[in-house]
Amino acid sequence: MCGIVGYIGKQKALPILLDGIKTLEYRGYDSTGVAVLNNKINAPKIYYAKSAGRINVLEEKIAHQKNGIDGFAGIAHTRWATHGEPNEVNAHPHFDCKKQIFLAHNGIIENYKELKANLIKKGHKFSSETDTEVLVHMLEDERNENPGFLLEEAALKVLKKIKGTYGLVIIDAREPEKLVAVRNFSPLVLGIGDGEYIVASDASALLKYTRQIVFLHDGEIAVLTPEKHKIFNLRSESVTREPEKIEWTEEIAKKGDFPHFMLKEIFEQPEAIENSLRGRLLSKEGLVKLGGLESVQDKLREAERIIIAACGTAYLAGRVGEYIFEEYAGIPTEVDFASEFRYRKPVFRKNDILLVISQSGETADTLAALREAKQKNILTIGIVNVVGSSIARETDAGVYQHIGPEISVASTKAFTSALSILTLFSVFLGRQRGMSLTMGRRITEELGKIPDLIKQILKSKDQIFEIAKKYESYNNFLYLGRKYNMPIAQEGALKLKEISYVHAEGYGAGEMKHGPIAMINKEFPSVVIAPSDSVYEKMISNIEEVKARRGPIIAIATEGNKEIKQIVEEVIYIPKTLEMLTPILSVVPLQLFAYFVGVLRGVDIDQPKNLAKSVTVE
Ligand code: AGP
Ligand code: GLU
Repeated sequence: MCGIVGYIGKQKALPILLDGIKTLEYRGYDSTGVAVLNNKINAPKIYYAKSAGRINVLEEKIAHQKNGIDGFAGIAHTRWATHGEPNEVNAHPHFDCKKQIFLAHNGIIENYKELKANLIKKGHKFSSETDTEVLVHMLEDERNENPGFLLEEAALKVLKKIKGTYGLVIIDAREPEKLVAVRNFSPLVLGIGDGEYIVASDASALLKYTRQIVFLHDGEIAVLTPEKHKIFNLRSESVTREPEKIEWTEEIAKKGDFPHFMLKEIFEQPEAIENSLRGRLLSKEGLVKLGGLESVQDKLREAERIIIAACGTAYLAGRVGEYIFEEYAGIPTEVDFASEFRYRKPVFRKNDILLVISQSGETADTLAALREAKQKNILTIGIVNVVGSSIARETDAGVYQHIGPEISVASTKAFTSALSILTLFSVFLGRQRGMSLTMGRRITEELGKIPDLIKQILKSKDQIFEIAKKYESYNNFLYLGRKYNMPIAQEGALKLKEISYVHAEGYGAGEMKHGPIAMINKEFPSVVIAPSDSVYEKMISNIEEVKARRGPIIAIATEGNKEIKQIVEEVIYIPKTLEMLTPILSVVPLQLFAYFVGVLRGVDIDQPKNLAKSVTVE
């Protein structure tokens, strides 16, 4: 939900901190700030700057600040506000009454109101409306009452009094050679350099400085000095954790020749799916190899129901998975929004499986749904992209997506990758049950062709841009699909909403006559997903119903279908494939359509307003 960076070492901290939060700006970007500990002057002092808006506003402010923000340790934050509007006062880092302790936070302190009231009674002066600010005054209070406390000792006392989620980085002018990082629910990774450390919300901010990283786990505190680091937990037990090597190249976390990460990642989909499938298709035997599931394959054989919990686009991938699992693995499947699942008191049965889907592996609602199922001893499986993320670590088993970082707030390559892995999973489960070798072979062979079929669709980019130009001024859209493509209608609508702010609704085409058809007129276009599949004739009837109300129609149809061209305004063709695989293809034109409408409407594509890439708060 926000980007946090901390640095301590032999280099000037400020440029590293600013560069780090720029890399993380996709995670949240409504206000920002930096604080640097200058220990090269007689009395160590912390210089800071904060601003509403984007990081370039902060840089402008720093450039004109008379006190040079100079020093070798510091923290920085780019915010996605939860408590207190996005302005300069509420921007992080926050500081205590004497401006000796500075802290940046990702998450929510749920009991901040009562803590704040007690601190005000004790004379603390607050400057912001945020929940976060209680933390620095609590640290100040602990150190006032225990002058001999080290910063980490004060932090340990504070953490035991708060409820909520947090990733924290903290500096204190009284200990100029130290940076403290704390993790509970909100992600933090530690980059280990040569005589320097950089801690950040995700690994993409570390790539420039090191490939050696240590993932902090929930309830852990890291104490960093230029020479060494130590990690301990809330019970003060020391934690030893071997560094892991990040495989991402620095380039993959950059836009390259593309104007936006979203377009880059749409065009990366063929390669992303190839990477998700690499080494996993055993077409000759009609099988798949999913190494991450081998440890639980016997339990999977006994599975009698699959429950899928996820959020947003990942949830819609799960909705496609529901059709796939029921048709090809013959297992009853249900899908729920993770944010609903965790509160609706789900009734589990012994041989249930909970499958969670999450690109970031840090989505708070999905993580909470996972933990709910684990409480009930349900086998949990994850489809995750970020290695070492909370969800990846806490599921019993899983399948990594291997698609590199997905930076754009709008999820595209992670979605089609998840659909590919859900298909692999259905073959894995199906071949444990009644699926024949022939069927397994057919699915795996067709799946292997998908990357090239997407490349064909991407060649229609100019046609799709022309269609976007014709329709970018409309303010309402209805997306319609059936069966495997009903979730794609919803995903297409979600993409348009989040990237162009245009209202759009994804609906089952069969349901349209039970209400939404009342909205149709010539000002209300419909995007209709009508590949040549088992429900094509039904889709044609729905198209006629829309036409009868003079609604303009943009259709997604299978190559070679000339008939549909006669009855709709626009047709975007996709290649023929298995019905179960059409969603991976039909979503691509919808991603491009949303992207182009957003560009034409002047939206900041990679950082659309009010959104963040990884929703690590509830
Ligand atoms: C997708 O375009 C959205 N940005 C959002 O719905 C996203 O899919 C959702 O927040 C889930 O994220 P995750 O896959 O990292 O869990
Ligand atoms: N809850 C804190 C605030 O509103 C942190 C939000 C974030 O994670 O960016 O400032």
